Amino acid sequence: MADKIEEQTVAVDTAAKSGGIVSSVVNWIDDRIPMTRVWNMHIAQYPAPKNFNFWYLFGSLAILVLVNQIVTGIWLTMNFVPSAEGAFASVEYIMRDVEYGWLLRYLHSTGASAFFVVVYLHMFRGMIYGSYQKPRELLWLFGMLIFLALMAEAFMGYLLPWGQMSFWGAQVIISLFGAIPVIGEDLTLWIRGDYVISGATLNRFFALHVIALPLVLVILVFLHIVALHEVGSNNPDGIEIKRKKGSVAEEDKPKFKFHEYYTNKKDVVDAIPFHPYYTVKDILGVAGFLILFCWVVFFMPEMNGFFLEAPNFEAANPLKTPEHIFPVWYFTPFYAILRAIPDKLAGVVAMGASIVVLALLPWLDRGKVRSIRYRSIWHKLNIAQFVVTFLILGWAGATPQTVFSTILSQICTVTYFMFFVLLYVYSKNEVTKPLPTRLTK
Ligand code: HEM
Repeated sequence: MADKIEEQTVAVDTAAKSGGIVSSVVNWIDDRIPMTRVWNMHIAQYPAPKNFNFWYLFGSLAILVLVNQIVTGIWLTMNFVPSAEGAFASVEYIMRDVEYGWLLRYLHSTGASAFFVVVYLHMFRGMIYGSYQKPRELLWLFGMLIFLALMAEAFMGYLLPWGQMSFWGAQVIISLFGAIPVIGEDLTLWIRGDYVISGATLNRFFALHVIALPLVLVILVFLHIVALHEVGSNNPDGIEIKRKKGSVAEEDKPKFKFHEYYTNKKDVVDAIPFHPYYTVKDILGVAGFLILFCWVVFFMPEMNGFFLEAPNFEAANPLKTPEHIFPVWYFTPFYAILRAIPDKLAGVVAMGASIVVLALLPWLDRGKVRSIRYRSIWHKLNIAQFVVTFLILGWAGATPQTVFSTILSQICTVTYFMFFVLLYVYSKNEVTKPLPTRLTK
């Protein structure tokens, strides 16, 4: 197989040199910008660890969903009216009268939820394989900035249809900024652009949602990938696939063609070229994802009120507060932490801290071993309790507040932060299993 790939690569190179209109165009471009070089370096010949598993699909899927959001968003914008008078009716118009408008809208609204499903699984993969550890701290930080931008993007997008939950959800969240001492009140005024949530708020959220934040997201994703390719991918074993130059025996050297950038820097072992191996694997993942995604889009786009909440089918009414105000499911774990604490400012601080603490993972985890496969039982139990905690918080934040749900949220707020405290404590002298010297499966 390795020989075949090499033959094919040589064949492609020869074809490019041997003339023909396509290769002339490619050569002309290559003389002006490094198109083929970048393609080979970052896709075709990127040395990816040979043992990527299911968990490694979600990065590509996140790119797919990002593209879906941008493309469907552009088409929705063509018929959306960003004013308090026109927004709700224009969404109804898109749903009923615009050709395939319903499909565009459901692709976009389901896409928002899919984005968070994919990103949460992607982050979880980073946690279990310790992908945030040195030297991938900056990659993780770019990821966290993406996560923040994504949350802002989703929050602002949710105001746009100008339904009851859009209005009252934004009311709750924006008023949180009012809890900040001294500047709080002025800050909320500045965010809203008015004394109440109004057309001015809708208008600025529209501008941020359709241009500013997507731009920020695309730039951050670009930097995320640059950071990844500079240090190379981690893998389920959590050991480096690159070794010191000259440290690999001739028979262990890979038979694949990798870009000279990688092979000149270090001897690369246990890697395969991203193309065709992982392009094919990712296409399979994309197919599976699209089956699930389309099933939701066509058969249950509202997902029983989890993706599109029932009160949002009613136009925003500042004089009528809905019985219960909940954010969409992807915010509910953090919302539960906010509600768990009776004091408003302390609740806001705890909610903010629950996100910031994730960004500190590379420094809180002092372990020498990355992957959960070789770490202690304590680490496995700690991660398991974190998952259960996160799910319970998600549930608690999506239900009307009762004494039971409040106590449960309080317990889970403690166990949420305990995950990080415990990790910091046990990771320093953790007893781990011996690491393999080469990748396993
Ligand atoms: C728009 C959202 C995002 C996109 C498009 C994206 C894209 C990607 C891609 C394509 C990869 C390489 C393939 C893979 O390893 O799955 C990757 C790797 C990675 N991403 Fe993201 N990502 C996003 C969000 C995040 C977030 C929110 C975090 C965490 C805070 C994160 C952390 C990581 C880490 C640690 C890796 C390296 C994993 C490893 O090598 O084991 N990413 N990302």
